[in-house]
Amino acid sequence: MEIIILKDADSVAAFGGELVAGLLRVSPATVLGLASGGTQLALYHKLVAKHRAGEISFRQVTTFNLDEYLGVTPANPQSYRAYMQRVLFDHVDIDPRRTFLPECAEGQNPLLVGRLYEKKISAAGGIDLQILGIGVNGHIGFNEPSSSLNSRTRVKTLTRQTVADNSRLFSASEFQPRLALTMGIATIMDARRILLLATGEKKAEAVAKMIEGPLTAMCPASILQMHQRVTVLLDEAAAGQLKNRDYYDWTHLQSQSLQERFGLDHEA
Ligand code: GLP
Repeated sequence: MEIIILKDADSVAAFGGELVAGLLRVSPATVLGLASGGTQLALYHKLVAKHRAGEISFRQVTTFNLDEYLGVTPANPQSYRAYMQRVLFDHVDIDPRRTFLPECAEGQNPLLVGRLYEKKISAAGGIDLQILGIGVNGHIGFNEPSSSLNSRTRVKTLTRQTVADNSRLFSASEFQPRLALTMGIATIMDARRILLLATGEKKAEAVAKMIEGPLTAMCPASILQMHQRVTVLLDEAAAGQLKNRDYYDWTHLQSQSLQERFGLDHEA
């Protein structure tokens, strides 16, 4: 894993935005895996700003979101579809027919939606870059602790903690889903490159378990230790419980100098 610790959340979004923009410049027809949630908001703002400045285009980009609530229509402002429209899709030149979420229409069998989603990802040639956040309990997508490390897109029940963590976004009278369709852990691991963003002290324990803990289904993000190309962007607060911090900073310095000398852009 390449672990990059930056001073604050804005620097994390700026670094992530540069990384995604760099990829879009080299490969305009990139297939992006997208995440929702509070952490990614600043990243999407950066991407929208770059698009407005004429630096990047999404015209040929295809996107697959990690997850979507079950039982929430796309028109519901709480849906991840609505989130994506609001924060990114409505502000860039992406073709709406190439934006996918694991959405389950009323009356559709969610089991079939999961399988179909996998097929769509394969048909698009697989995901080039998967953007991830991390839950306080170490989940990625909605793959909660104890999820099969070999899982594919399917229905998951959210933990009480995840429901509580996300309740800040729902008013008391609003229906808050307990079920979601999410890419599986194996689906995420198939991405050619992964970019995980985590900010704030609340994430520090999950981040330390993901990077320095044992590989275990009880911290689904720990599977990323097995992926050959993961970049983790952290602010100081989210990096607060890492024991090996000095090494990550040292490695990042060496990577930067490798990049300057040879144009290499990562250390996995
Ligand atoms: C949510 C989403 C994840 C997201 C994570 C962190 O519940 N399903 O895709 O990465 O939990 O969210 P946040 O960035 O709001 O902390």
